[in-house]
Amino acid sequence: MNKAVILVGGPSRATRFRPLSMHLPQPLFPVGGKPIIWHQIKALSAVKDLREIILIGFFEDYVFRSFLEKCQEEFPEITFKYLREYSQLGTAGGFFHFRDQILRGGPKNIFMLYTDICCSFPLNELLAQHERHGRLGTIMVTKVDRSSARLYGCVVVDNETKLAAHYVEKPETYVSDMASTGVFVFHQDIFRFMAQVMEQRANEFDQQRANESAYGRSVDEADESHDVNRLRLEQDVLRRMAADKKLSAYLCKGFWRQIKSAASAVPANGLYLQKALGENRSFLAEAKQDGPEIVGAVYIHPSAQIHPTARIGPNVSIHARVVIGPGVRVDDSIILDNVHIKDNAAVLHSIVGWDSRIGMWGRVEGSPITSSDDIDEVTHAGVKVNSICILGEDVQVKDEVFIRNSIVLPHKDLASNKHNEIIM
Ligand code: GTP
Repeated sequence: MNKAVILVGGPSRATRFRPLSMHLPQPLFPVGGKPIIWHQIKALSAVKDLREIILIGFFEDYVFRSFLEKCQEEFPEITFKYLREYSQLGTAGGFFHFRDQILRGGPKNIFMLYTDICCSFPLNELLAQHERHGRLGTIMVTKVDRSSARLYGCVVVDNETKLAAHYVEKPETYVSDMASTGVFVFHQDIFRFMAQVMEQRANEFDQQRANESAYGRSVDEADESHDVNRLRLEQDVLRRMAADKKLSAYLCKGFWRQIKSAASAVPANGLYLQKALGENRSFLAEAKQDGPEIVGAVYIHPSAQIHPTARIGPNVSIHARVVIGPGVRVDDSIILDNVHIKDNAAVLHSIVGWDSRIGMWGRVEGSPITSSDDIDEVTHAGVKVNSICILGEDVQVKDEVFIRNSIVLPHKDLASNKHNEIIM
């Protein structure tokens, strides 16, 4: 039997996801027509012999309750749980803290997935390679551009043995173009290894305290790196596993990118819609004779009303109760619940927040993100501009107003054009 843990973080994280995380926790933000973590859950549901999925985070207990109830109905063969950390314990601290609950029932392998990624999630292939090599854990890696490797946790991989020989977090000089994806699988003995790491760290902290007090100084207890219960998966655990030759690497050949900034939700939305085009076409909108023009992969919630003269797509998600008027054009965008886009307006490379209004002939336009890196700025004619245009909740764009490459915080009325601004 196998289990999985998804790390969902907490309200103090995901700051780069604002203003969208002000309304909804980032893991529940919809990309490709579904909450970000639904995609992790869907992929896990296809893993051989996977019985339980545990979300670990430091959000209040109620935050995931109704989402998990829906998951329980959709995936009845899997048990779902949310376990709450009493404080932010780091990417491995909560996993270690809840080890008794995770080990209940004797799972052989435990997956761990980060939330802030979008991926083709080849989890059965990952598991098969993990079992073939029989090491304590396997990290899924992806090939990134050599020039951007310093933005990621980099893994030096032996191609023949798949041994992850070395792990370096955001290296200043080039080490490898294989980046950690935030997807891992461990043998259940991982907790013994983590216990040793915890003990080693406690000894190191004691030694540090003794050294500081010998010089009449005291350790800064507010510094979270001195919290013995806090454990970082990649820097504290995987680095040591690599050094001890206990870590394998599996190369993901499908798509992968991070969802850290709010802007990165738009390319993630496109990737998941493209995936649905190949695997789950019935989820996507179909062009009908008396309906709007649908271009490429588009998701439209059944309660949305779209005028037949509108042109939607490609890579567009339109959510509940959205109303789209005649002649409107929407391309490469996420339109959240209860938005109203009036006649002849255009929305391109943008996210339009809940309950917002765009007036007649209004235009909300960002720039497409072409790089696979998680950047929220692009260069336009030599000048750096915000990439995706983002309207927070309840933003009113008046008739004929043009909002370009801007980020607008909730509850704003925009009566004049804005270009490359952050409107607070
Ligand atoms: P950065 O690139 O510096 O943001 O680091 P990273 O890629 O390692 O990501 P980060 O550590 O911020 O988060 C990875 C995943 O773990 C995300 O899904 C976070 O929500 C989650 N996470 C981060 N810290 C914690 C924590 O203390 N507790 C829990 N439960 N989840 C966490």
